[in-house]
Amino acid sequence: MKILVTGGCGFIGSNFIHYWLSLHPDDTIVNLDKLTYAANPQSLKDLENNFHYQFIQGDICDENLVDKILSDKIELIVHFAAESHVDRSIDDPLLFVKTNVLGTYTLLNCAKKHGNIRFHHVSTDEVFGSIPFNSSAQFSEQTPYDPSSPYSASKAASDHFVRSFHKTFALPITITNCSNNYGPFMNPEKMIPRMITNIIDNIKIPVYGRGENFRDWLYVTDHCSAIEAVITRGKIGDTYCIGGLKETSTNIDLVKKVLNLMGGDESMIEFVADRPAHDNYAVSWEKIHRELGWQPEETLDSGLIKMIDWYRENESWWREAKTEAEAFYQKLNDYKNLNK
Ligand code: NAD
Ligand code: DAU
Repeated sequence: MKILVTGGCGFIGSNFIHYWLSLHPDDTIVNLDKLTYAANPQSLKDLENNFHYQFIQGDICDENLVDKILSDKIELIVHFAAESHVDRSIDDPLLFVKTNVLGTYTLLNCAKKHGNIRFHHVSTDEVFGSIPFNSSAQFSEQTPYDPSSPYSASKAASDHFVRSFHKTFALPITITNCSNNYGPFMNPEKMIPRMITNIIDNIKIPVYGRGENFRDWLYVTDHCSAIEAVITRGKIGDTYCIGGLKETSTNIDLVKKVLNLMGGDESMIEFVADRPAHDNYAVSWEKIHRELGWQPEETLDSGLIKMIDWYRENESWWREAKTEAEAFYQKLNDYKNLNK
């Protein structure tokens, strides 16, 4: 099978390409990636000479390019490409509309023209909004959409377009809405790799608000296996929620856990201004478990240990991205201070 993966030089896309080719070595993957700040082609360096892997630098909004790629026997699109960081969506919402909404629409429209190519859309639990504090509720496939940030609003819009192409044009789609991923090849702008690399650099860990917000963390290869389950066994037209933890973890507990695993102490924690519209997430993965037999393999502890080892051993992979990420946060702080 020939597969188009979009955004394959990003965090989850690069993990997915490695995962898929290790299990399906006879398939061919074409990776279309614009190489934004979030991409790192080094993540796929080991595939450079693999006959079953091809990289194309380009934009998912470029209809002519997408059309041309699809005309070369693509049977399946696995769509990861997106602007993915909530804090950046507060800084530049329009970019999120362009990539996440217009880009997804462009792929759908081209897939439809090329005779109903199978389309798997990788989405997020953030489309459902926020779980109240002190509640044990979980998002599920039945939860109404209620996005809070420009990022989650753009992903919600993209999900609606994907479903509409199934209902209106019978495009064979599936959607997954997954909770927070962590693992290797993750940009150090995001909480867990930011904290690991700060501890390595012996600088303080900024915790938004009082660290009381909670998340449902899933090791990235468990997300890849869930996507594989949906692609190979999922029901066309269906949505599957994916999550990892039996109990959610507050940000402050997570920071303390990582400090403990890395031998740091709590004096490294610095409470900073909260994120506007700061959500809480928890996901029920009962449907994908019941219907497709999927379940996560890693626990939060086992995944964090692997991830910490990887960041300790791969500084050359993350150093430049960290400098860029911290420059972004500095700019965001300067802007906040200017508007106080
Ligand atoms: P990422 O930011 O690490 O990577 C995104 C990739 O998309 C980058 O390689 C970037 O260059 C590429 N890209 C961006 N705009 C593009 C464009 N216009 N054309 C082509 N390529 C473009 O993102 P990620 O964390 O790997 O997330 C991947 C997908 O999974 C996203 O759709 C995201 O919404 C979803 N998701 C992420 C998480 C998470 O925890 N990171 C959880 C659930 C769902
Ligand atoms: O839930 C899935 C989503 O998870 C994905 O759709 C997004 O693409 C992905 O970025 C992630 O979004 P979050 O906003 O949850 O991730 P982030 O790593 O930015 O933040 C995790 C939590 O940590 C959140 O509550 C905010 C907090 N935080 C974050 C940073 C960067 C801090 O306290 N300090 C920080 O420096």
